[in-house]
Order: sequence, then structure tokens, then C-alpha cells
Amino acid sequence: MSEQEIKVPDLGGADEVEVIEVLVSQGDSVEEEDPILTVESDKASVELPSPGAGKITKITVKVGDKVKEGDVVGMMEAGGDAGGSDDDKGTGEQAGTDKDQEAKAQSEDKAEETKPAPKKSGGSRKETVKVPPLDGFDNVPVIEINVSEGDEVEVDDALVTVESDKATMEIPSPFAGKIGKILVSEGDKISEGLDLVEMTVVEEGGEEPASEAEEPSGDARQEGKSEPAGKPEEPKPAPASATYEPPTPGAKVHAGPAVRKLAREFGADLTRIKGSGPKGRILKDDVQAYVKSQLQQTQQGSTVAGGGGAGIPVVKLPDFSQFGDIERESMSRVMFATANNMQRSWLNVPHVTQFEDADITDMESFRKAQKAAGEKKGVKMTPLPFLLKACATALAELPQFNVSLDMERKEVVRKQYIHIGIAVDTPHGLMVPVIRDVDKKGLWELAAESAELAQKARDKQLKPAEMQGACFTITSLGGIGGTAFTPIVNTPEVAILGVSKAAMKPVWDGKDFQPRLMLPLSLSYDHRAVNGADAARFTTLLSQLLGDIRSLLL
Ligand code: COA
Repeated sequence: MSEQEIKVPDLGGADEVEVIEVLVSQGDSVEEEDPILTVESDKASVELPSPGAGKITKITVKVGDKVKEGDVVGMMEAGGDAGGSDDDKGTGEQAGTDKDQEAKAQSEDKAEETKPAPKKSGGSRKETVKVPPLDGFDNVPVIEINVSEGDEVEVDDALVTVESDKATMEIPSPFAGKIGKILVSEGDKISEGLDLVEMTVVEEGGEEPASEAEEPSGDARQEGKSEPAGKPEEPKPAPASATYEPPTPGAKVHAGPAVRKLAREFGADLTRIKGSGPKGRILKDDVQAYVKSQLQQTQQGSTVAGGGGAGIPVVKLPDFSQFGDIERESMSRVMFATANNMQRSWLNVPHVTQFEDADITDMESFRKAQKAAGEKKGVKMTPLPFLLKACATALAELPQFNVSLDMERKEVVRKQYIHIGIAVDTPHGLMVPVIRDVDKKGLWELAAESAELAQKARDKQLKPAEMQGACFTITSLGGIGGTAFTPIVNTPEVAILGVSKAAMKPVWDGKDFQPRLMLPLSLSYDHRAVNGADAARFTTLLSQLLGDIRSLLL
């Protein structure tokens, strides 16, 4: 085995470049052309490839060092079969050849040469930025658009990032000014001369580009200027982990090709990762730490409601301020918890909703007849106690609705009690207090208890125990309106009854149409636990019970 120097190859005209990432350590085994270092000039980052296969014996540079062609950056023991147990080389990323790097470095210089000649039109002018020569590269995919319409940029700010199989390059802005239309999209393959971006460029002593905004009411539409003066700064959500950052659409991402490839392999969104390298550069360690923290959060079931766990693509937010004024406010604890619960249920439960109308004409006459009695007792009798009672009876008769599924143990948990949650709309969010042993309580008791719990929910006075243990939930929008809806099952329960507003309808009695007060019911259920026929039985039974409330007494 012979020791061999690892030298900086021809940098294609670039004089001195900075080491921004050391990709190997002493003892690592590498294949020929595996990336050893990432270096960066002002415009491009390039990986320096290993001259052969073997084992790294020494690395003599560190992040921040400046190197030039011919400098020795390390030593390696040559060996045809690198073998070894190094994890790092597993990315399979092939570093650029000397020729590639030369081409890239030259392209930076050419970018300067291709600044189009200005077209004058008063204090500012319109320019179309074209793709500069990408020597050696053609049809290079755009992997990132670094700016958004309305952004203000300085000369040399990155407009888009392109990536060949070997290197990543940012195409710099040749002007200072305001971004107009962006003429390419992520994934487009671009070559020299193609129109890239339209810009409004300020001429010296000319107007600010802001006043030349394309929209007539451009005042409120410029990013970062849309908040009226005096408004507090947008609060930033607390990071969920050291590496988590809220995504910043259009934000610049500084990362080398190997890091980008690694992020792509993990499906990690680089705009969400905080770089710990020089100038905020994202390193492999940052990607790994981010992926690890996301996995931990998913396992703890605390993935943020925006998605992103278990391979679910994250919903990317645009920069809303480009469309008009915005304000941001933190979600309340209740709202955030509800969002997570809804998402968990929506993603885990195969939902089906069964609809039915119950004839509550007689029930309503009976209920209204209780008004005086209610006033005496200080309790208002609404349709809700009847619904609670009818659901308790249906749960007892069709016990397949009074279960939870334990998929891990492949067991059905059958409950021998009937506790029902009622969804309460409160100013601070949706709350679901639970009425225990509904089957054992009378209508007045249920009326008093549901009114008391709903008030406690509105006053934020509910104790945790008062919100636990439900077998089933009723969500009534009947006091508000609507004809039907599809409620989301409150997991681990397996069904929820949605109630809409009762309305007079013509009902055929076999001879004539009769005006009857019909109550729309929407039963959503977990199709893993309940089959469709049982759901139809459940709503039919509810309809019978509410249609003839004497049967509730039986
Ligand atoms: N059809 C017609 N009218 C109805 C009705 C229905 N299905 N349900 C209730 N009403 C009537 C009531 O009788 C009452 O009218 P009245 O004053 O003339 O007697 C009025 O609507 C208001 O009733 P409300 O105070 O809402 O009492 P309730 O017992 O029916 O409901 C709650 C109590 C807690 C369920 C209800 O206040 C609530 O918060 N609902 C919203 C739940 C929610 O947001 N669900 C969505 C979850 S995604």
C-alpha cells in the first residue's frame, strides 16, 4: 500500500477558494471521485473528488481554510477495493471532475460578462435577465428559485440555483432592483440565453423600484412592506427542535451538492433546516440532525399539524404578503391540539358518513311543553338531551359502536359503560366535555349537566377528567344551521353523530304529504370498526327513537 497526496485540482481560473465542508475523516474508506471537501468561491460551490480509491490517513485542512490549485489537503493509502465500514460514502455522490470544476469556475466569470445592456426609461427600467453561459453544461435543472416576485435584490444575489449531476451553482443577479415575473420554474431545464427573470432596475439617481410596482396598488403588495406601521413584528413559532426552522419560501439555501442529494434522499426540505456551517451553510450533520428530530417527533406523535410526518408531504405556504396585508397570531393551545387531533383522525381513520332524517315533530311538541317545567327547575330543555338519550340506547343495542380498536395488539376494546362527549363551540376553540353514564340519567339531568359542562367549556373551567373517557361524540350544529355535514371521528372512538338544523318538510304518509319537522343526522364512523349495514341500522334506530320518544323509556 502506498501513501498518496490528495491535492486541490485545477480550479478553472478561480484563485483561492474557501473550504466550507470537510466530508471525510481520518480512517474513512473512499472510492475514486468520492467527495473529500466542499470549497466555495463567491458564486459556486464545488466538491473536490478523491483521486483514487483507498483509506484517508490524514486531512490537513479545516473549514474556513483557503486553498488553491496544487495545495495538499490530505493523504490517503491507495487500495483498489476501498471496502470499509464508512457510512459517509454511502451517499454515492460523484464529485465533479477537474474539467467540470474548470467549467463551473469559468461560468462565474462569464456571468459577469453577460450583463445585458440597460434599456433606459426614466428613473428605472425593465430588464430581462438571461441565463449566463454555463460552460460545459446545458439543460441544467433548476432546483430552487431563490427569489419571489416583488423581492428586492442586490447585484450578485442568487436568483435561481441550478444543479448538474456534479455541482450546484447559483445564478447571480446582474442588477440591483425589484424582481418582476419569474420566467422559469423548479425542475425546468435551462441553458445559456434563456429568459430567466424580469426585473425593474433602479438607475442611479432614479426612482425606487417600489414606486414602479406592476400592480397599481403596489403599496400594500411589496413583501416586507405590507404591514402597516406600528404593527408588532410577526411572532415566530418556537422551533420544535434545534434544527427546525419555519420554512421560508424563496429563502436562499446554502448547501453543497452532496448535502442537497442527501436531503433529497431523505425527503428533507432544505428551507426548513438551519445551517450550522459558515454563513449559515447547511452541512450533512444538519440534515441528519433534522431528519432525526423529525423522526423522533413523529414517533412521539407530536408532528406539527402542517404535516410532514410519516412521509406525508408538508403543505408549503406561499408568502401571503405578496397578495395583500397579513397578520400572524399564535394558535391557542386548544386550537393547536384540535388541529393535531383532527389530522391524526383524518389520516388514521377510513371515514364514511351515513345520513338520515328523523321526524321530531312529536318530540318537539313534547319538548316545548316542558318549557314551564324547565323554568321552574332553572334548566332549559333543548333537543340535545333527547339526542344523548337516543344515542345511549343505540350504543347499547349496537355495541359494535361502543369500541376502540387496538391495532397493535389486534384487539377490539369493548366498553361496558356509555359516556358521550358533546362538542362545544367556544371563543377559544372546540372543546368536548364528556357526560358519564348517559344511559343511567334522565332527560332533565342530562339537560342540566350538558348546559353546565358547555358553560364550563366556554369559561375555560373544565377539568381534564371532564374531557376524558368518551365512547362516542355528538356534534350539534342544529342551533346554527346547515342541512348535513361530515364530522370527523374523535379517535379512539369509532363514531360521531353530526346534527344539523331541523326543518319542516313534506313527508308522504302513504296517502298525502304531511308537514313534519325533520332533523338531519350525519353519522361518521370508522369503517375499520363498523360496517355500512350497521351504520344504516344505527341511524335508522336513532330516527325511530327520536320519532317516538316513548321508546326511549323502554
Ligand atoms: N334544529 C333546530 N333547532 C335546534 C337544534 C336543531 N337540531 N338544536 C338546537 N336547536 C335550537 C335550540 O332548541 C335553541 O332554540 P330555542 O332557544 O328556541 O329553544 C337554539 O337552537 C340554541 O340551542 P343551543 O343553545 O345551541 O343548545 P343545544 O343544547 O342544542 O346545544 C351545544 C348545545 C353545546 C351543543 C351548542 O351550544 C354548541 O356549542 N354547538 C356547536 C358544536 C360545534 O361547534 N360542533 C362542531 C364540531 S366540528
